[in-house]
Amino acid sequence: MTVLVIGATGKTGSAVVDALTARGVKAAAATRTPFLTPHGQPARPRDGVRPVRFDWADRATWAPALEGAEGLYIVGPYAHPTGEQLVGELLAEAGSGVRRVALLSVIGADRLPPEVMMADWERDVRSSGAEWTILRPNWFIQNFGNAFAATLRDKGLLELPAGDGALSFVDTRDIADVAAAALAEDGHAGQVYDITGPQSFTYAEALKILGDAAGRDLTYRAISHEQAAANLRAAGARERSITWQRGLYDLILDGADAPVTDVVERVAGHPARSLAQYAAENAALWRDDEA
Ligand SMILES: NC(=O)c1ccc[n+]([C@@H]2O[C@H](COP(=O)([O-])OP(=O)(O)OC[C@H]3O[C@@H](n4cnc5c(N)ncnc54)[C@H](OP(=O)(O)O)[C@@H]3O)[C@@H](O)[C@H]2O)c1
Repeated sequence: MTVLVIGATGKTGSAVVDALTARGVKAAAATRTPFLTPHGQPARPRDGVRPVRFDWADRATWAPALEGAEGLYIVGPYAHPTGEQLVGELLAEAGSGVRRVALLSVIGADRLPPEVMMADWERDVRSSGAEWTILRPNWFIQNFGNAFAATLRDKGLLELPAGDGALSFVDTRDIADVAAAALAEDGHAGQVYDITGPQSFTYAEALKILGDAAGRDLTYRAISHEQAAANLRAAGARERSITWQRGLYDLILDGADAPVTDVVERVAGHPARSLAQYAAENAALWRDDEA
């Protein structure tokens, strides 16, 4: 079986490629620049991984990328202006050749504003005719080493409109292990998996864990939705993105992101990785070398 992995250099897609190859499943690793790393360096060839060009915005790339794929891991076109339609259109293009699909969605997807597009993608995956599995992970632990890394390193500060809501942050490697199981094994068709880490933390508690690992204080400051929107606008974010981010933070404030599930253990067959483990592995990311 070959699985076409969309977003193959992203936070989940890169881990999905690793998890599939660890199981001996071939991956077609799809990005817009398939022979380069995310840092623009030539990518090293890997056994069992075929780089393919795929661009949500360029339909000429779709059929060649789908060639020979029986499985499909979808990171949807969340930044595309008409992204809500594209997952359904890709599935129509795939036809009956693709027999299994795993869609990356998000925890609480059915309570989010339509700008998030997940409800459209989930609906189209359910009606695709393929064996589908919907993955609804909580906030990624890897955000701390990615979107939030620079402000934590440079200012020791993270400002978010998350109040003191708790989240069961999840490691993207565990999301990938669940995705690989859903694509490679029988028994996951028609399942909607809420994927979480092993424990819930507020952002203040999470930063205490990262700060202890890095040997410095890292501070969380709760801000209002209005302040968050102003910060996003100043950084050039579009109104649609500001609306869907507000929806995501409302879920945290409502307590909807706090529950812990056993999906990783049950589906991937190992305990979910902890925030403390990630912090120990990546402590250098939050050290301020100037200090
Ligand atoms: N962050 C969280 O805490 C969280 C939690 C739950 C769910 N989610 C959902 O996760 C999704 C993001 O997944 P991710 O974090 O794994 O992805 P990501 O790290 O944002 O990576 C995006 C990937 O998509 C590729 N890509 C970008 N634009 C593309 C295009 N036009 N056509 C084809 N490929 C393109 C990128 O490669 P190239 O640029 O090389 O093409 C890269 O491989 C979002 O839908 C988000 O809502 C996020």
